[in-house]
Amino acid sequence: MGASLLTGPFPRVEGELHCGQVAAEELAVRYGTPLYVYDVGWIRAQAEAFRSAFAGVDHLLAYSVKANGNLSILRALNNLGCGADITSGGELFRARRAGIPPERIVFAGVGKTREEIAAALKEDILAFNVESRSELERLEEIAREMGVRARFGVRVNPDVHALTPHAYTRTGHSQTKFGVPWSETRDLYEWALGREHLQAVGIDVHIGSQIVDPAPYAQALDRVLDLASELRSEGVPLDFIDIGGGYGISYGGEPAMDVRQLAGEIVPRVSEAGLRLILEPGRALVGEAGILLTRVQYVKRNGEKTFVVVDGGMSELIRPSHYGGYHEIEGVGVTAGRSVERVDVVGPICETGDFFALDRDMPLPKQGELLAVRTVGAYGFSMASNYNGRLRPAEALVDGTDSRLIRRRETFEDLIRGEE
Ligand SMILES: Cc1ncc(COP(=O)(O)O)c(C=O)c1O
Repeated sequence: MGASLLTGPFPRVEGELHCGQVAAEELAVRYGTPLYVYDVGWIRAQAEAFRSAFAGVDHLLAYSVKANGNLSILRALNNLGCGADITSGGELFRARRAGIPPERIVFAGVGKTREEIAAALKEDILAFNVESRSELERLEEIAREMGVRARFGVRVNPDVHALTPHAYTRTGHSQTKFGVPWSETRDLYEWALGREHLQAVGIDVHIGSQIVDPAPYAQALDRVLDLASELRSEGVPLDFIDIGGGYGISYGGEPAMDVRQLAGEIVPRVSEAGLRLILEPGRALVGEAGILLTRVQYVKRNGEKTFVVVDGGMSELIRPSHYGGYHEIEGVGVTAGRSVERVDVVGPICETGDFFALDRDMPLPKQGELLAVRTVGAYGFSMASNYNGRLRPAEALVDGTDSRLIRRRETFEDLIRGEE
């Protein structure tokens, strides 16, 4: 969505890639590689762009913590009035530790455990987005044991087929594990009505990720608003509609979701219904704000193929191998005049699927040079692992001319912490 509203956060100054006003090479030298670097100014600007586009309706931006849960990023968003969409006890812990108030937290996910439900009830979060009848029964049981009233919304599966780039990111059709089937949703609200320890406050829908067309949102919203209006006429006191996240960004110059256009579809419908709106953007707030800096270890030729072997891999960024995700990759220094070659950019991990790019035409980098993998602010570090005994990388935040470490690089001791 950034592409439609603002220009990019990583400019070139005299040919050298910068983050904000800090040279990327300087950051790599200061903090080491592989290194995630985020431009907090860009994150703020994206949140503000959502806020102003949706200003016509009472709304909450519940940032989807799964996209990037670093405390410093959560704090920055909290300062702008954002809340959190969480999916686990761990994300609840993060969100609260970052100071996000419970009344701005919604909890989704198909597998909430007793402990996670109890922890969220103890925190008195805004609402549980319930994904099955058995979850609602469990929620009631725990709320009764604790002597509290659990606020909830049902996550409805609207059976809307949104075109996302990968099947793994489609969640709004009836063949996925997500949400309650359309035909069973009403029963669930009716079952909850009058139960002392349950309070229906909202209704929720999330149709998928990386969607750039407002139409499926409008379609899902129309279906859910009809249902909401029936439920309200039957005495279910709904206060909000949560339309989830999934707003697409541009990874390689393709169109992104136009947030103003999206708001143009959503705002009139929701304000006419007299409901509060919750949005759960993840990627759209942070995706373009991040790059991964990685250093070339070797340039290796195997027959016809040229491999650029870098010091980051699928343990740092799994999107290319998991979702077939495309990320632009460029030399941080000046590469003008270099010959362009077709290369695979690969990591050090013992998997053929360990790559950042396959058959990519780029100015041939040299050993020791720094590359930047773009648009990795979302689902980058948050999906990083220790596979192959790798240390999870450091993360740095840039704010104008300042930079600071917001997560130190792991050590070997971190690798074995907790083991006998
Ligand atoms: C319920 C829910 N809300 C929000 C999101 C955030 O999606 P995105 O980062 O694409 O905006 C997800 C992503 O999986 C989700 O499952």
